[in-house]
Amino acid sequence: MSEFRAPPLDVSSILHGGIHHPTLRSWQSNGRNLTKSMFIYPIFISDDPDAEEVISSLPGQKRWGLNKLEGFLGPLVKKGLKGVILFGVPMNMEKDARGSAADDPSTPVIQALHLLSKLYPQLMLTVDVCLCEYTSHGHCGILSSLPNPGHSNQPTIEMEPSAQRIAEVAVAYAKAGAHCVAPSDMMDGRIRAIKLGLMHAGLANRCALMSYSAKFASGLYGPFRDAAGSAPSFGNRKCYQLPPNGRSLARRAIQRDAREGADILMVKPALPYLDIISDCAQYAPDHPTACYQVSGEYAMVVAGAEKGIYGLKEMAFETTESMVRAGASIILSYFTPQFLDWLDKEQ
Ligand code: PBG
Ligand code: ZN
Repeated sequence: MSEFRAPPLDVSSILHGGIHHPTLRSWQSNGRNLTKSMFIYPIFISDDPDAEEVISSLPGQKRWGLNKLEGFLGPLVKKGLKGVILFGVPMNMEKDARGSAADDPSTPVIQALHLLSKLYPQLMLTVDVCLCEYTSHGHCGILSSLPNPGHSNQPTIEMEPSAQRIAEVAVAYAKAGAHCVAPSDMMDGRIRAIKLGLMHAGLANRCALMSYSAKFASGLYGPFRDAAGSAPSFGNRKCYQLPPNGRSLARRAIQRDAREGADILMVKPALPYLDIISDCAQYAPDHPTACYQVSGEYAMVVAGAEKGIYGLKEMAFETTESMVRAGASIILSYFTPQFLDWLDKEQ
């Protein structure tokens, strides 16, 4: 064994020369670097105007009342926060089968849109569009009353009424000042219905449509459902969210939403679906690709850091850089406030 000497290396074998300095390493990114403007910060807005409630399963995040928004967001906007996505949390509003509270003029996200567009005219305001926070059954669409033999504990969606209702809600948010609406319901036909709704309302040229195109039926949404009070009261979401093994189906969903009028396409969750992010960038190359580092991914990264498995910052960078490398140019992340500090120091 000790007799053996490998022959001298060929010049093309030497890679270390290109990475021994931090600036050299930054040049290895194919121009795809994390920047502050890539990040969208998800925010939970309560209908209790004074709320500032800790969410135990989502460390560091809170449900915010309208009266607390300025104190909370002001410092982040100063640090370079470019975009937020709002989720309504109706703690006291009545829930019904069609999610009437979603577009009630008093609903928290509509109130927040009015307030935030006044406070921070430059901040890009996206609103998540879904019914599950507002429906009595906790599902994302309108349910059929037809029996579902053999699957009695599973919902059946009424397709057209669901798309219609979701479009109505999206248009209400656009009218209230949303720069972008982002339907997360996964109903068939909702992108087309929303785009037509925006056109009809004369708002299609000033409200973008970001589709949760490839949203999988994932085990990583638990902390979000705690935060938003949106867990289904029976059954699960597998008849409308994508099966985790469905790579081709995800491609079809991405291409469909591109055709139906989406401006931005999203993959969700992000880390276990990097192949889908890469497909999205490849199969819809003329649309920006977004991804959502969801509540469970965030909580996993935080929990691992607390266990001493890795450093929090190191893993927040490694996970989000993998998303950018796969093809994402927009990242929805609960780490956004930290990145506003971290990216300052990097640049
Ligand atoms: C609701 C919605 C969910 C998320 C965003 N919008 C959860 C779900 O589909 O049950 C998940 C976000 C997260 O986990 O951070 N349609
Ligand atoms: Zn939903």
